[in-house]
Amino acid sequence: SAEVVPQAPEDPLFGLMAAFRRDEDPKKVDLGIGAYRDDNAKPWVLPVVKKVRANSCRRGELPNSSRWDADSSLQADDIIRNDPNLNHEYLPIAGLADFTSASQKLILGGDSPALKEKRVTSLQTVSGTGAVHLGALFLAKFYKPASKPTAYFSDPTWPNHFQIFSNVGLSHKTYPYFSKETKGLDFDGFYNSIQNADEGSIVVLHACAHNPTGVDLTQDQWKKIAEVIRAKKHFPFFDTAYQGFASGDLARDGWAIRYFVEQGFELCIAQSYAKNFGLYGERAGCFHFVTSPSSDAQSTIGRIASQLAILQRSEISNPPAYGARIASLVLNTPELFAQWEEDLRTMSGRIIEMRKALRSKLEELGTPGTWNHITDQIGMFSFTGLSEQQVMKLREDSHVYMTKNGRISMAGLNTKNIDYFAKAVDKAVRD
Ligand code: LMR
Repeated sequence: SAEVVPQAPEDPLFGLMAAFRRDEDPKKVDLGIGAYRDDNAKPWVLPVVKKVRANSCRRGELPNSSRWDADSSLQADDIIRNDPNLNHEYLPIAGLADFTSASQKLILGGDSPALKEKRVTSLQTVSGTGAVHLGALFLAKFYKPASKPTAYFSDPTWPNHFQIFSNVGLSHKTYPYFSKETKGLDFDGFYNSIQNADEGSIVVLHACAHNPTGVDLTQDQWKKIAEVIRAKKHFPFFDTAYQGFASGDLARDGWAIRYFVEQGFELCIAQSYAKNFGLYGERAGCFHFVTSPSSDAQSTIGRIASQLAILQRSEISNPPAYGARIASLVLNTPELFAQWEEDLRTMSGRIIEMRKALRSKLEELGTPGTWNHITDQIGMFSFTGLSEQQVMKLREDSHVYMTKNGRISMAGLNTKNIDYFAKAVDKAVRD
């Protein structure tokens, strides 16, 4: 009977969000969930998204409209499709084709050998979570190396990875990633662990702007990791939720994935548009499967696509349309794309400013410890090195909310609360 169902713990991140909302102190600071905030601590609808939403980007109203007129019947149609009389019919099982093909180009690069050789299949998913799930489900069913595969996650990783993989029956372990001493990468630990893992393991990798640590590999380090993954016949699974947030440059943030594809790896990619389009609640994302180059790669990818379609149909039938329509318009329209890049620079630029300000304020205060990692780390998050006890103290004494592992969402800081936060950290560290 239903009485046997045990109580599950509250999701730590969404629990933190609820606790923040309950707190009535006007000084409260939310550094919990990874969602961009403007300098007034308010959600930020990207100007490019507003423009598409308001349907104000009809032919002639865009900058460079001559370019727009010249070669863009498809783009013009897309704009009209976003009008207020839009219908609410089902998308195809694999989602909006314009969206998935633009997503491939965005992450793999327009001149990707995998795209030229037609060995990529892509499905629109319920954001990054749905993409990780679809990939994990597919691997659980079809990936059969010599011994039952284990998935390896970075220690630490986005906590949802654990339950998504467990839910489809895959076991998991972690590889060392973050060095508590340097608050940077534990490269040797990472490398050795991948080398010692059973052949054919699934290695989950954050493409850029690692969540929760903000610590990324250099290109040389990626090359070494690629070598050991190849030597051990592991299966790389990339999670990319922050393209455009790490360096502010989309191609550079996609570099690791593009490198692995150039090296001929077979791999999965889970791509989210929650953060880089600010489309959190619209659940726009994409799953890509890339096969290795071979004479029958196209037939292999066709079979993979057919199986993915069945999994998708049984799980969600077909994906939600609204967010993907917005992203698709932007990705497929050069003028809008350029504006999106500007919006990305606004977000990543403000975060970089906050990193600099926080580090210098802590250094000015003479807060015990070193704080260079705040500016060394990149992307949405910083792994501060604060202990769980200090985190709880900050919450109780100063109404500052961050996850227990000491992660802060940099976007929660702004010119109005940064002094307050730095002083609160100083106090918590000294007590
Ligand atoms: C985060 O880590 O804060 C975000 O990725 C939100 C989420 O879904 O966990």
